[in-house]
Amino acid sequence: MFYVTQDLPKGLFKGSIIPRPIAWVSTVGPDGVTNLAPFSYFQAISDVPPMIMFVVTSKDAEMNPKDTLVNIRASGEFVVNIVPESAFEMMDLSSERLPYGESEIDKFGIPTKKSVLIKPPSIAISPINIECVLSEIMDIKESLRGNKMIIGKVVGMSVDESIMEDGRINVKKLRPMCRLGYHGYSVVEKMIERRL
Ligand SMILES: Cc1cc2nc3c(=O)[nH]c(=O)nc-3n(C[C@H](O)[C@H](O)[C@H](O)COP(=O)(O)O)c2cc1C
Repeated sequence: MFYVTQDLPKGLFKGSIIPRPIAWVSTVGPDGVTNLAPFSYFQAISDVPPMIMFVVTSKDAEMNPKDTLVNIRASGEFVVNIVPESAFEMMDLSSERLPYGESEIDKFGIPTKKSVLIKPPSIAISPINIECVLSEIMDIKESLRGNKMIIGKVVGMSVDESIMEDGRINVKKLRPMCRLGYHGYSVVEKMIERRL
């Protein structure tokens, strides 16, 4: 079966590009109010220096920017928190569209800890907190939802010892959540190593 783009069944495109990792992004506004939201248009894009990107779509047809974008534009800082299976419910709750100035962290009692180098808080129930400063915001020119790619440079990372083994991250201990198509999620729990 071949579909030209205008005939693609709903969800087929995103359901094909799986699994997508989830950036659980914490930010803080100029008023000091925190914000937290998940983003699955997310990837590493450089390792020297380490850099990441995630993409924010508009809040609605009026192209209202999401709170995460507003805060990053103002502060130039954000934390990407990795979501373990145990934080799934909290991650899901934090995707609620609260009005700007209302904190998902406060509303749902999501535990935080101070970040080391930047102002936005890190999520305490995430065993990996990636502290980033804004590098650039790129318009995805042809996107009809005004998508913006936020590119961040990693300034430091907190990694919980409990997910480490022999100096490496152990996937079975981390059990990171990722996004599948439709309403699906998955957990990474197995690593296949190639023979050298
Ligand atoms: C698992 C998951 C992945 C998501 N991925 C994205 C994404 O890549 N880009 C996006 O703009 N919204 C994404 N969303 C929706 C946002 O999390 C949602 O719009 C949120 O309310 C934005 O919050 P904010 O306005 O506080 O920034 C995702 C939601 C979930 C649950």
